[in-house]
Amino acid sequence: MEKLQPGQMLGPYRIINQIGQGGMATVYKAYQASMDRNVAIKVLPGQLAESREFTQRFQQEAHIIAKLEHPHILPVFDYGESEGVTYLVMRYLDAGTLREKMENGRPLPLDEIDRLFTQLADALGYAHSFGIVHRDLKPSNALIDAQGNLFLTDFGIAKLLESASPRLTQTDAIMGTPAYISPEQAQAAQVDQRSDIYSLGIILYEMVTGRVPFVAETPLAVILKHVSDPLPPPSTLKPDIPEAIERVILKALAKHPEDRFATVGEFLAAWKRALDETKTSRPAASMVGAGAAAERKPTPRPQRTPVTDARQGISAPKAAPKSQNWTGWVVGCLVGVCALFGIGGTLILLSNLREPSAPAPTLTVPPTQTPIATLILPPPPTLTVPPAAGDILLQDDFSDDSIWGILNEETASIAYENNALRMRVFRTNWIVWSTPNVEAYRNVRAEVTARNNDGETTTAFGIICYQQEVTSSYYYAVVTPAGEYAIAKAADGETDTFLTNNDAWGSSSLIATNASSYRVGLDCGNGALSLYVDGQLIDSVFDDTYTSGASGLIVWSGNDVSSADVAFDDFILRSLE
Ligand SMILES: Nc1ncnc2c1ncn2[C@@H]1O[C@H](COP(=O)(O)OP(=O)(O)OP(=O)(O)O)[C@@H](O)[C@H]1O
Ligand SMILES: [Mg+2]
Repeated sequence: MEKLQPGQMLGPYRIINQIGQGGMATVYKAYQASMDRNVAIKVLPGQLAESREFTQRFQQEAHIIAKLEHPHILPVFDYGESEGVTYLVMRYLDAGTLREKMENGRPLPLDEIDRLFTQLADALGYAHSFGIVHRDLKPSNALIDAQGNLFLTDFGIAKLLESASPRLTQTDAIMGTPAYISPEQAQAAQVDQRSDIYSLGIILYEMVTGRVPFVAETPLAVILKHVSDPLPPPSTLKPDIPEAIERVILKALAKHPEDRFATVGEFLAAWKRALDETKTSRPAASMVGAGAAAERKPTPRPQRTPVTDARQGISAPKAAPKSQNWTGWVVGCLVGVCALFGIGGTLILLSNLREPSAPAPTLTVPPTQTPIATLILPPPPTLTVPPAAGDILLQDDFSDDSIWGILNEETASIAYENNALRMRVFRTNWIVWSTPNVEAYRNVRAEVTARNNDGETTTAFGIICYQQEVTSSYYYAVVTPAGEYAIAKAADGETDTFLTNNDAWGSSSLIATNASSYRVGLDCGNGALSLYVDGQLIDSVFDDTYTSGASGLIVWSGNDVSSADVAFDDFILRSLE
């Protein structure tokens, strides 16, 4: 069938433009003059319109779908046939789909998953209560408006197209990607609402892990995986997924329909229970649906012998060498490898910066030099000005005590005081952190002004980023008034790893000692972490264990000192994109 052209009439609708093309149908934006509104028109393949039997059944089905009235089901307005074109008219939504939301392959934040999944499940459960099975549940069939509300669409269309498939050519019959297809549907067996439950389970799997479980070169290979490959548990892709949530997903994705939830309502209830369980079992304030002012508890920094040694090593004789410590050795090696990449990457960047029009790098290397020579080049000079950052995502001068998590406990406190956020620790080797929200930011630069009020040179203060739903997993960068620093990774239940200086504290002459305040900056983006102090790049390291998460502030009392008292001011979070 010829494409409809802008301006052309289709029945009473004037075509504005094509807005989408699925595996089977074409979607146009059109104008309905009688109602003075824009609509979306789904035009079915030309061959189908030729069959009287098909068009009659399509009309019947359209009537049934049009009766679905639910806040999260996209309304169908009309059905029509005009000059051999069969079409369905729906509400036009100037928005994206759930597909686009998940396109970057990253998990969505849990509170967002909960909101979208609840809306989707509600809509589906409502349709099931009328005996309508969707059969083509997938993210591209869930439209999302500017307010973030979801609208399920394309009910019943799959069934019609399937039943008409003998009339279609082989190519037409491949209906998009089968990434969400249930095993029984894949085998052309009888399907009921449990087939939709499986597809809904795949969507939930993707929202939680960032990926669908079965991927292959061809649609057929994907279908076969749904039928016979064991499901990769979500925790293989996202190790910190709460167990209760994983169990819910595994049940929804059972190969046999009778092993799944019997109804969408059961599925949704199990999801809500798992979320509640996750919230109550978390040691620190939960990221799940927590409000902006979620209270945060301090997490004890795991006892970390190598750090203790290293700290003492700065001002006192070093303690036992770490060479017998396997963990330390392995971490050291990894950091070494990271550092090599880091230098390589920075060198390329720097040469581009310095000589934008210089010939290709190979020309600057003497012909006799082997490529390995790059590895022994001196470390790159320090950048004095951090590269520009983009849009401001959050800015706070702490004059309004609303968004940061506050705390008042025996071991630590966080409070708004004198237009600053004062974070205190009352115990040795204790950490306290706070975040303004539970947003999963990625590629961000945070900056804050920190004033150390306690006069201790071992108090460490700085910024955290990419904090995970398990809130004891995050990156942080801290500095001390003694001019020491570390960029580190905290992983739930594990000893923290200092990613810089071979897992030890580093010292930089660029950090002023005992300054009245420090402007600390941390870039977390594109797999790299860079620490800035007072506008100077102090150190940079590559690590991509976490790729997004909450940003916040952190204070550590030090190994030997039982108090820390730091006031933070003028926090700003910018996008690096
Ligand atoms: N009511 C609507 N308002 C605005 N855009 C829409 C509407 N319905 C569909 N679209 C857009 O048109 C695109 C194509 O939709 P269509 O249903 O034809 O294909 P699909 O869902 O992507 O894939 P498949 O054909 O495999 O179902 C959608 O991804 C969406 O971007
Ligand atoms: Mg669709």
